[in-house]
Amino acid sequence: MARPTVTHRCTDCGGTTPRWVGRCPECGAWNSLVEEAVRPGGTGRRPADPPGAASAPVPLGTVDAEGGRPRPTGVGEVDRVLAGGLLPGSVTLIYGEPGVGKSTLLLQVLSSVAALGCVVLLVSAEEAAAQVRARAERLGPLPAGLLVSATADVDTVEEAVRGLGPDLVVVDSVQTVADRQASGPPGSLSQVRAVMDRLVRLAKDPAPGHPAPAMVLVGHVTKEGAIAGPRALEHLVDTVLSFEGDRHHALRLLRAVKHRFGPTGEVGLFEMGETGLKDVADPGLLLLGDRRHEVPGSAVTPVLQGRRPLLVEIQALACVGAPGGPRRTALGVDARRLATVVAVLEARVGVELGAVELFASAAGGIRSTEPAADLALALAVASAAAGVALPRDLVSFGEVGLAGEVRQVAGAERRLSEAGRLGFSRALVPAATPDVPGGAVAVRVRTVGEAVAAALRLAREEKTAPAGTIPPWSTAAARP
Ligand code: TYD
Ligand code: MG
Repeated sequence: MARPTVTHRCTDCGGTTPRWVGRCPECGAWNSLVEEAVRPGGTGRRPADPPGAASAPVPLGTVDAEGGRPRPTGVGEVDRVLAGGLLPGSVTLIYGEPGVGKSTLLLQVLSSVAALGCVVLLVSAEEAAAQVRARAERLGPLPAGLLVSATADVDTVEEAVRGLGPDLVVVDSVQTVADRQASGPPGSLSQVRAVMDRLVRLAKDPAPGHPAPAMVLVGHVTKEGAIAGPRALEHLVDTVLSFEGDRHHALRLLRAVKHRFGPTGEVGLFEMGETGLKDVADPGLLLLGDRRHEVPGSAVTPVLQGRRPLLVEIQALACVGAPGGPRRTALGVDARRLATVVAVLEARVGVELGAVELFASAAGGIRSTEPAADLALALAVASAAAGVALPRDLVSFGEVGLAGEVRQVAGAERRLSEAGRLGFSRALVPAATPDVPGGAVAVRVRTVGEAVAAALRLAREEKTAPAGTIPPWSTAAARP
């Protein structure tokens, strides 16, 4: 037998090169190459076919469409993101930072599917079975069809799945399971690839008489936000989900990064509580519930998460600067966008901020870094600097350009509709924004100066008007 040779594989893109070099020749990433043993010759194994039996060519119209339909998991927001549910024989990778709630979410999915009368298996490679039970009891009654196997050996996983024939298998996590035949420590790229290869086969090629299980694999992200190099693993699976959220807030977002069986624009929202994750069907109350609209510096903007508009409060606080130059602090908003908006307010609108210390944040644990939030950021800063609270029923969106112009953004109709639905009656928006029946009334502005003037004037009108006689807003008044 020929001696095993060695290759170097990029942990980012999966590309290989015979000699170690500092920079991957395929994708240009630095220090991403790791040594990997190569056995000459093939593996001798049959390639994994897609879900369902491998087929000789047949007319497309004669294919049974039922096999391509997802099965609902019963967890509403998960089904929304997966465009219906999990497909038998499919492989889904869910990744997120440690502690975000991946194990909790999947235990809830397992319980829900088991409660539908299915046999489901949790492979727990990180937590002991007793720990899993303690967590499951916190989440609700234990369903009969939920089986747990605490193992980190992929051979044991294969035996269990082949013997049991479950409908759903969750492996938590793919970085802690190892394959004795593969090189490297658990979690290394060669191990993770080998383990994923075995698990993909298990999903696509079930034992005779058994259903093809839907396979869900948990992956931890590194500090850089990569699961042992996302591009190296994403092509091995059908669906990639990311689970995100600020650990100090209750809100969690589930997002389809890749989905072979449906669109990727959907975002699922959850709230982490004492008894696990709850679907958030209407995020309006959760995100704006604590808003103090009467305080200067609070502006509301509809941000798009995937295709879903969420109303987020952007806050700004202005105070006298300390000696040595005023500080600018950004939390949950992009620091460079804040700097740009501040510069535009000074240079194009004439708002004096040179000696003012500024803090800006997006409340509620949602990061709002899209350009569409610029206008609300500008209005929050202008409102804070002027000491005038903005009208409580006003939202705004639009990208701010360096000339002080307010530029059009994508999804304007969806943003106006959501604002209208949650009771916001007016929206300061870019000039080309169309009207939306039932949405907030579009108050069109061409420049940040126009927007600031309109917002502050409106705020004064609201303040001086006796209760119940707030004048109707005329869109013409915003135009010079
Ligand atoms: P976990 O699912 O273990 O995260 P991951 O698998 O992504 O590492 O969740 C960990 C956090 O969730 C932990 O800090 C405790 C919290 N949590 C709750 O707040 N409520 C609950 O009901 C559960 C089960 C966990
Ligand atoms: Mg976990």
